[in-house]
Amino acid sequence: MSRQQEQLFSASLMQSIKSRFHYVDHDVDGRARLFFDNAGGSFRLKSALDAFAGIDALPDCPERIHERALFLQDIQTRGEADIRHILNAQAGSVYLSLTASAAMFEMVRAVMENVPGSNAVTTILEHPSSFDAMKLYCERTGRELRVAPSNAETGGVDVDAIISLIDDDTALLSVMYASNISGAKLDIASIAKRARERRPDLFIIVDAVQHAPHAVIDLQKTPVDGINFAPYKFFGCRGAGVTWLSERLAELPHHRLDAKAKGAWELGSPAPAQFAVVSAIVDYVAWIGSQTSDAQDRRELFIRGMKRIEEHERALLALLLDGADGQRGLRAIDGVRVFWDHDDLTRRDLIVGIGFDDLDPTAAVRAYEQRGVIVYERIASSLYSGRMLKSFNLDGAVRISPLHCHDQGDMLRFLAVTEEIATEARRGE
Ligand SMILES: Cc1ncc(COP(=O)(O)O)c(C=O)c1O
Repeated sequence: MSRQQEQLFSASLMQSIKSRFHYVDHDVDGRARLFFDNAGGSFRLKSALDAFAGIDALPDCPERIHERALFLQDIQTRGEADIRHILNAQAGSVYLSLTASAAMFEMVRAVMENVPGSNAVTTILEHPSSFDAMKLYCERTGRELRVAPSNAETGGVDVDAIISLIDDDTALLSVMYASNISGAKLDIASIAKRARERRPDLFIIVDAVQHAPHAVIDLQKTPVDGINFAPYKFFGCRGAGVTWLSERLAELPHHRLDAKAKGAWELGSPAPAQFAVVSAIVDYVAWIGSQTSDAQDRRELFIRGMKRIEEHERALLALLLDGADGQRGLRAIDGVRVFWDHDDLTRRDLIVGIGFDDLDPTAAVRAYEQRGVIVYERIASSLYSGRMLKSFNLDGAVRISPLHCHDQGDMLRFLAVTEEIATEARRGE
């Protein structure tokens, strides 16, 4: 067993983890399926769906004085505390919106409409939710948009490439924690530190939608002004984006009922069920943490759980790349190219991008589906992929995004299917 494989969850824990999620090994119709598109929406925790259904079944408005309303307020208070546990956030505001994209547009707008400076900085790899928000509000407020290029070798963006664009006149830096195309992590701690050395009062907003389900985030070590994630990519449910805002960002003018506190961002009826989903996510990760730690503190257990998830996922990534037990890995399969294949796996989330010599990505995704495997074609004509792929000089890629509830057998099965597809494509079948 390799050193990486030693980091995998034990067989009994693995079984227990799989049983906590819906449809890990089978689709809803009972057919065996490998779902490797978790960066597009992850497996759902049964407990998160149960929590959502249980709380949303209650007709009560949380903004009342009766017992059930107070219960719903408690659910929200616990959910807000759990959002802070996930991010290690103190003070500031927590904001639940319909999507992560909606919150990103609102944050960018608040800074751009109210903070002086003749330019704003972002990267070419951003999701359209932040890139297009930056573009729109630069146009509306007459600023220059500066875009840091990608690094085709690492699949990320170099710290220097971002820092070199920041000057005394930069109003806002918007940067993602990890790329949802390549899986490359950006070094947010260095970026935040060095950006603030250039401009100490710089506003920084981070899109953590891709990265949050894969590793620990610690706002005390990476002090930024705004950060968001999406529960539906984090073992939870669709229908909410979660955002934390620093006090100074939260208090910038924004859409707000006049009588509410200056830092309040929620607009309209709160949805306690969405807070209950976040608490179910934290319960689950803390449960993984409790397997190897007897800490009592919820953040401590959450950290321990996320670290185990990260280690297990890194071992899965190594298996995908290098194979095991006689099964070739992606790096060795004839007719397959691995993109952004940075050797330092600690700099990568569990995402791999590949291309087939003899098959375009869309045809490859169909070939996978015929064999019971779901992956995603990233193609240049897509509004969600084009800009980023062009920056890497690529027309397309197949994105593979398993999750920590997969095991070694799942990786090997995927590799065998990949080898079969590559062989058939080469023979022109
Ligand atoms: C990196 C990243 N940021 C933002 C988003 C947008 O999230 P939402 O669908 O909640 O708006 C996505 C969704 O794919 C994403 O991958």
